[in-house]
Amino acid sequence: MDSARQMDLVMQRTDAAMREARRLSGHIVFDGKLQPALTAETFEVENPATGAVIGKAPRCGAADVDQVVRSAQRAFESWRRVSARERGALLLKAADLLEKEAEALAQLSSLETGNALATQTRGEAATMVDIFRFFGGLAGEMKGMTVPRADGVFLYTKREPMGVVGAIIPWNAPLMQTATKTGAALAAGNAVVLKTAEQAPLAVLRVFELLQGVLPAGVANVISGFGTEAGQPLCEHPLVRKVTFTGSSATGARILHAVADKIVPVTAELGGKNPNIVMADADIERAAKGVIAGLRLQRQGQSCTAGTRIYLHADVYEPVMERVLAAIPTFRIGNPLDEATQVGSIISREQLARVERYVAMARETDGAKILIGGERPSDLALKDGYFYTTTLIEGVPPASPVCRDEIFGPVATVARWTDFDQVIAEANDSTFGLAAVLWTENLRAAFDFIDRMDAGFVQVNQFAVAEANIEYGGTKLSGTGRELSVESLVNHFTWSKTVIVNTAAQ
Ligand code: NAI
Ligand code: MG
Repeated sequence: MDSARQMDLVMQRTDAAMREARRLSGHIVFDGKLQPALTAETFEVENPATGAVIGKAPRCGAADVDQVVRSAQRAFESWRRVSARERGALLLKAADLLEKEAEALAQLSSLETGNALATQTRGEAATMVDIFRFFGGLAGEMKGMTVPRADGVFLYTKREPMGVVGAIIPWNAPLMQTATKTGAALAAGNAVVLKTAEQAPLAVLRVFELLQGVLPAGVANVISGFGTEAGQPLCEHPLVRKVTFTGSSATGARILHAVADKIVPVTAELGGKNPNIVMADADIERAAKGVIAGLRLQRQGQSCTAGTRIYLHADVYEPVMERVLAAIPTFRIGNPLDEATQVGSIISREQLARVERYVAMARETDGAKILIGGERPSDLALKDGYFYTTTLIEGVPPASPVCRDEIFGPVATVARWTDFDQVIAEANDSTFGLAAVLWTENLRAAFDFIDRMDAGFVQVNQFAVAEANIEYGGTKLSGTGRELSVESLVNHFTWSKTVIVNTAAQ
């Protein structure tokens, strides 16, 4: 496509998504329809690629939370009595409906998140559809057990839905996170009230609007607002019997405190600072590609799974780095709605400032060296957006916050190693325990790594991310609970009732 036609297409997509953003502005979804919130207060939604305001979202507080949760509770009383397979069939229909709108949803998501359409949001919308289908298919699997006891005594367990599920999601992959939480909650017979991230409420709002075309009124609801004003009251609401959260570890801890008094279970998918380790015997080409994949450039590194601590064996350090440093500049940074763009913009001014703070810290660290990046792109067309170049830093001491904190941007550290035990120890020396990856042709080393890594998601010779049927979750500050598997659905979205029916003669 020539560049004039390409520009035209970008303009058309932008206009269409902006119109949709304006139409959705000021609304939430509850009681089966898109409607205004109680509060008249709103906050602005920005296009992070330009800094322009594209819409506004209701700044819900406790009164809105209460109204929506009560409505969800009423809907739950009938939804729980819909047969499991029928609930599943409705989720499959919902998936079909979302699939028809997937491209528009992806474009709207690109407009508000800065994630590129071609490399992130289009695939993410497809994953969202797939996850709804996955859970639709599993709805009939909420099985209990029968327990042998004695003739005439029937002892069994029965899975019960929990009630209203409060779901809170972040901004980095909102379509996927919506499906993960809503699909599971609904398949198990719960109602859901989801709070969107303040940076990216609109595409998710549209998803919930579409769900109303298929699901009974009141079972799938969405609100917008800030963490302490809307998220916390949602967690604390007495009718919310389960909380499922994705976001920072600090907020995860706050949520666990907030629900402690009413004793409800929490699934918390939190941060990561994940080691990506290359051994001397690794396939060099494959490992270099794996290091790049680990940077999660399609989301500007804003991924909890990102391999942001890169450990290269000294024998292969140069050849791997040579390939990685050559590959990074070939990724095109640009307007997220441009088909040619592979890397979009960071989500917000605040998040960009956070990235710049860590890079500045690295610059002031003795021995640290920025190998590539470390600045905003020079392209004038990008100057108003929150773009940042992919940045690799070597020589940062392991104790530095640059090596320890989840930066959540296109920044990774690179270290040279020689001793396997030492690199495993260093990889595990983290407050996080989400993902870990090893590149090797040595089977014994691979299994040693698998056994010794204190992380919830461990891979050898591939860098993949969570999807339907790939159970996901962390240990330590990376969270508690699991998602995206039948077991996570049964264990985390239903509770077990023990039943004994005694028909034996006395
Ligand atoms: P955050 O964890 O504060 O926000 C995520 C969600 O939680 C948002 O919907 C927010 O409104 C809500 N929230 C915030 N405070 C709350 C509270 N007290 N009660 C209930 N809900 C609350 O993350 P934020 O501020 O957007 O990003 C900060 C850092 O968090 C990032 O730099 C990154 O390190 C980490 N993060 C990790 C994510 C992951 O996927 N593991 C996703 C987003 C952020
Ligand atoms: Mg926050």
